[in-house]
Amino acid sequence: MTAQVLLLPGDGIGVEVVAQARKVLEALASDGVVMSLSEAPFGGAGYDAAGKPLPDETLAQARASDAILLGAVGGPQYEALPRELRPERGLLGIRAELDLFANLRPAILYPQLAASSSLRPEIVSGLDIMIVRELTGGIYFGQPRGIAERETASGTERYGYNTMVYGESEIRRIAKVAVEIASKRGGKLCSVDKANVLEVSELWREGVSAVAAERVQLSHMYVDNAAMQLVRDPKQFDTIVTGNLFGDILSDCAAMLTGSIGMLPSASLNEGGVGLYEPVHGSAPDIAGKGLANPLATILSAAMMLRYSLDEQEAADRIERAVQAVLEQGLRTPDIASGGKSISTQAMGDAVVAAL
Ligand code: IPM
Ligand code: MG
Repeated sequence: MTAQVLLLPGDGIGVEVVAQARKVLEALASDGVVMSLSEAPFGGAGYDAAGKPLPDETLAQARASDAILLGAVGGPQYEALPRELRPERGLLGIRAELDLFANLRPAILYPQLAASSSLRPEIVSGLDIMIVRELTGGIYFGQPRGIAERETASGTERYGYNTMVYGESEIRRIAKVAVEIASKRGGKLCSVDKANVLEVSELWREGVSAVAAERVQLSHMYVDNAAMQLVRDPKQFDTIVTGNLFGDILSDCAAMLTGSIGMLPSASLNEGGVGLYEPVHGSAPDIAGKGLANPLATILSAAMMLRYSLDEQEAADRIERAVQAVLEQGLRTPDIASGGKSISTQAMGDAVVAAL
């Protein structure tokens, strides 16, 4: 059966970077990788086309697909919309609707880019961390949540509240994914929580420990310490597993260690192997449409897609080797050029196609 791949360019630079990944996928398709590509509006573009960030038609197409490649969502023109119509809601919606609970965010330092890191080369050279972030639970989705009013001594005031909640089954399934991944990598898993303060973290720690048992070398770390350790000595980590909010924060931090958030792909998987693949970076409205964006994170996301959802290992390898090759040739988009000579988004896409 032909694999169905849905492209969701979204907003801002999402449009440009997905166009480059599309060229790469089309080149592979003409070389015999069997897949069928379609495209749908999503995020702000979904709102413009159909009045909501995750249009019904887009969701139906997503459900019928084997894999989804997403650009990025969001832009200043959507910030005044009611919360449920904002582009970010589309992203949270598709994660929840497809039950994409396991978010894999690798932070790899390409040797050619060691100078772009904000840390000294000896601290980051050879860095290769995998962050496994729980993506459909925790405080992002916990009930109750809202904004309400309460009486105080000096009158009525509004208050906002959210709930961080994890059930044992949710902890178990993300721990299983993380243990599986860690055991295929360096065999070391660090679970990050805030068990010194939060009950939900106590249960998290218990659950992860039970799943990990003797299968990997497991350690636990409080999230504040983990943030510090990531910038102090990042190479102590191999695989990290953590909840939704902590993972959101730590993955941005880990991304920056590698010099450019423009280089990092991610995968969000459900239990059926369907995945949504997207660059870690956002829609960057300030540089959208100018050919300044780095398409490599999206192109590398397409490689992850071929590897994890389409079982096309050889095609995935070809993309990853081509990306190494263009870096080796000295080709850079502005974000990784350290102020030196750079090429456009489109030229970078073409260079990867040529290097396949
Ligand atoms: C991410 C983003 C999203 C998140 C936003 C855009 C909702 O920051 O994918 O890390 O917080 O999960
Ligand atoms: Mg984030």
